[in-house]
Amino acid sequence: MNGTPPSDSDSLSFPKIDTTVPHSARIYDYWLGGKDNYPADREMGEQIRAVLPSIVEMARDQRAFLARVVRYLAGEAGIRQFLDIGTGLPTADNTHQVAQQVAPESRIVYVDNDPLVLAHARALLTSSPEGTRSCGAPPRRWTLANPSRSCCWGSCTTSPIPTRRTRS
Ligand SMILES: C[S@@+](CC[C@H](N)C(=O)[O-])C[C@H]1O[C@@H](n2cnc3c(N)ncnc32)[C@H](O)[C@@H]1O
Repeated sequence: MNGTPPSDSDSLSFPKIDTTVPHSARIYDYWLGGKDNYPADREMGEQIRAVLPSIVEMARDQRAFLARVVRYLAGEAGIRQFLDIGTGLPTADNTHQVAQQVAPESRIVYVDNDPLVLAHARALLTSSPEGTRSCGAPPRRWTLANPSRSCCWGSCTTSPIPTRRTRS
């Protein structure tokens, strides 16, 4: 699973990466102190921070929440398959890292509609041999180990950030 190349169907619907238009994944990356963001993302990030000064703290708290939830699910709840919709750019404590710390056999499918996120995910989201899989949204193809077993799917913080700028 690891490093699986994108299938044609995965890449057919991808828009080109336009770094002049702010995108939620990259704005979020900026707030988390990442380096995968561009001037348009930073400008939008600062505009949002001007009206909501606690946004950076909220983003970091949200990442911590996500990790706690995954740790609980992989631990006490015994979940071994995860569908992470709205993956975001790789940062610390990504879903597969947390789950596989608890249970290395956990399998994770990452889904995101930002082509930059997918490019990074394919390059950086390496894991245990059981693996991760990344695909575009809407997902056209995904493979979980066992469709008859429980799968936790989550969509964390996918919509609070404006992502399109109206151009005049
Ligand atoms: C703020 S990031 C959240 C990252 C991570 N889930 C977290 O909670 O830390 C939001 C992500 O959701 C993705 N996203 C937004 N709308 C989506 C949709 N309709 N389908 C798939 N991904 C989406 C964005 O591209 C971005 O990467």
